[in-house]
Amino acid sequence: MSSIAAAWKRLPWWVEPMAVVFALTAFGIYSLTIVVFYPGVFQEYVSPFYSPEVGRPDWLPWFITAPVLILWIPLGFRATCYYYRKAYYRAFFWDPPACQAKAQQLDRPWARSTESYKGERALFVLNNIHRYFLYATIMVVAFLWYEAFLTVFTPDGFQITVASLLWFLNIVLVSAYTFSCHSFRHLVGGNKDCYSCIRGGNVRRKTYNFVSRLNTRHPQWAWYSLVSLLATDIYLRLMQAGVITDFPIIGG
Ligand code: FES
Repeated sequence: MSSIAAAWKRLPWWVEPMAVVFALTAFGIYSLTIVVFYPGVFQEYVSPFYSPEVGRPDWLPWFITAPVLILWIPLGFRATCYYYRKAYYRAFFWDPPACQAKAQQLDRPWARSTESYKGERALFVLNNIHRYFLYATIMVVAFLWYEAFLTVFTPDGFQITVASLLWFLNIVLVSAYTFSCHSFRHLVGGNKDCYSCIRGGNVRRKTYNFVSRLNTRHPQWAWYSLVSLLATDIYLRLMQAGVITDFPIIGG
């Protein structure tokens, strides 16, 4: 793994922003396409993109499908995430495209100076509501855990299949991403100056330390959970289309 990381660091500086542009654009197009144009219900297991399943009032315009009523929560959470913000400011707006110091060393004329930075203005001021997206996402994550358990405790008994393993892998990675959030770290203990002065301080301190350890890998959780989400959805979609058959590991 470290050799992969070392090889990645040796690549030209523009590879990372370009990879981010490609990955986020592809993910955005894919997720919006499947929830707007293919909001179908899965027979055996529901896709994580369509969970939790909610009712849809008939008066809504056609493009506001039932999954769209939920998707704005995780999408908003990711769009306002501190890590993704850094990634897409660099990748989409080149503001700056890489480290400022490095940019100046390489004598890039388009590198913006720190004096010109005015903070997040206009529409980007919405990024400040990240913590509210966190609260809503925690509720979605709870439903996803419930849905994951439904894939192993079926009306016919207990089973473990490749689909249920993918569901669990995905929800573990999505949970790691959600609970390594900087806002969550602040919520569980970052907003306290003295743990011994508050009730349950020891638990708060331990939780804060645990979340801090998770937080050091927040970018990795962001990408792993994105890939696992796509992999689970594509696998279930291929099952639904009859292209592949789910492989039973226990029971099933
Ligand atoms: S900072 Fe990335 S999800 Fe909160």
